[in-house]
Amino acid sequence: MTLEQTYNLVRGLHILAVIAWMAGLLMLPRLYAYHTETAEPGSAFDAHFQRWEGKVVRIILNPAMVLAFLLGLGLIWLDVRRHTDGWGFLAQPWMLVKLAGVAFLIWWHHYIARARKGFAAGRRDHPAKFWRMTNELPFVAAILMVIAVTTEFGGR
Ligand code: HEM
Repeated sequence: MTLEQTYNLVRGLHILAVIAWMAGLLMLPRLYAYHTETAEPGSAFDAHFQRWEGKVVRIILNPAMVLAFLLGLGLIWLDVRRHTDGWGFLAQPWMLVKLAGVAFLIWWHHYIARARKGFAAGRRDHPAKFWRMTNELPFVAAILMVIAVTTEFGGR
């Protein structure tokens, strides 16, 4: 397989992992919103929600984040070999936007995964409206990141 073919394969796998990660990032706060407004702490419904939320974190969110990240690192490694400017592309404006988005999504991932602890302790740390409104944040970040990598503005 040529370097270019390997790059295209890893890029496709990266995009698939990112789709799964985004699905989990959009699903979990939505479950929290329904959990907060419909399930009394300690009820059977509360326990169901906690089980579903745990599954989203363990089966979708965590593996997808690790895969998207590792495949993204793989793309950086391959990019260094494909281009003459070596590591220079990492400092270009489009890549800085992409990396800022990555930092934000990793932070948000941990923030929402940690919020499970509050539900497990019978607390409702935020109203349903908070989860509904902040649920748009990962998608806004994704728009900026995808446009940054597809246009490569300010570089290349
Ligand atoms: C988790 C950490 C991530 C790292 C380290 C990473 C890194 C990279 C790198 C180095 C490329 C190749 C850029 C190029 O040379 O054109 C790339 C491509 C891409 N990334 Fe990521 N990425 C990450 C997460 C994400 C996320 C969260 C999204 C979307 C929300 C995303 C969307 C894309 C897309 C759509 C491409 C293909 C761009 C194209 O071929 O035109 N990535 N990524």
